[in-house]
Amino acid sequence: MEVKRLTGVFGAEVRISDVRRLDEEGIASLRALVCEHEVVVLPGQNLGVSDQVELSRRFGPAGPAPFIEPSPDHPEVIKVLKQASDGDAFNFGGAWHSDFSFQPEPPSFTLLFAIDIPPYGGDTLWASMTAAWKHLSAEKKAELLSVTAVHTARDAYSRKMQPLHSGLSGMNIVCDDTANDTELHPLVVSHPETGRQALFFNRAYVRDLVGVEPERVGPLLDWLHAFTTDARFTLRHRWSPGDLVIWDNRSTQHYALNDYAGFRRELHRTTVAGSRPGS
Ligand code: SIN
Repeated sequence: MEVKRLTGVFGAEVRISDVRRLDEEGIASLRALVCEHEVVVLPGQNLGVSDQVELSRRFGPAGPAPFIEPSPDHPEVIKVLKQASDGDAFNFGGAWHSDFSFQPEPPSFTLLFAIDIPPYGGDTLWASMTAAWKHLSAEKKAELLSVTAVHTARDAYSRKMQPLHSGLSGMNIVCDDTANDTELHPLVVSHPETGRQALFFNRAYVRDLVGVEPERVGPLLDWLHAFTTDARFTLRHRWSPGDLVIWDNRSTQHYALNDYAGFRRELHRTTVAGSRPGS
């Protein structure tokens, strides 16, 4: 595999002629590259929906994907679709988040495959949460190590949020009040495969903090959001059809830009089940 780093911080492009033909050793190497580089771009792939399901399962079983109606023939696949006629409706993934971090066992990896890409816009950004952690002062690290984050999909998928999602004619996002459930995860986690420490934080789903004086919670949430998404920890990908991007949800957050009103954008997403985040 030919590996080219994409920034000085994280991300790599990996050239493989056909990812479907990797043997077990190849998949193990690719998995190790995703854990190491956190976001891996594989250009020029040719993946039908069943190919993607099969490839994804080689990383592990599919994780549950609540609130979003999957592809009718392939329950493990979400079609991330914005039609040209949807205009400037809120797009799926249009806020910094880590996929389903509100679950007890959030996904380990996400695979996103580009089908139809606007002539400009619709890029995806990722932020490395290991890089953000590394850049903290010793004092700040000590302070954050004792903090627990309260994850919830309340402000994304509870009933009150339904109107936000109804502008997408090609996706059926069904909000319900299970989104009000909360899950506690350490703010600082150790990656189960690399052992590296990272901030497990995203502003979309982390709505409260435990272990912080009440008056400091709001300012600390705002600070964590601004710090972890600072430009120096980010990578931006301009999609082409046939790009497959695999990322590590345990050490990144991401954001789908919504700057392509009037154009169609379609990508297929699968998520791989993960484990309970641990410190
Ligand atoms: C997502 O948040 O999983 C979708 C990202 C994208 O559409 O770029």
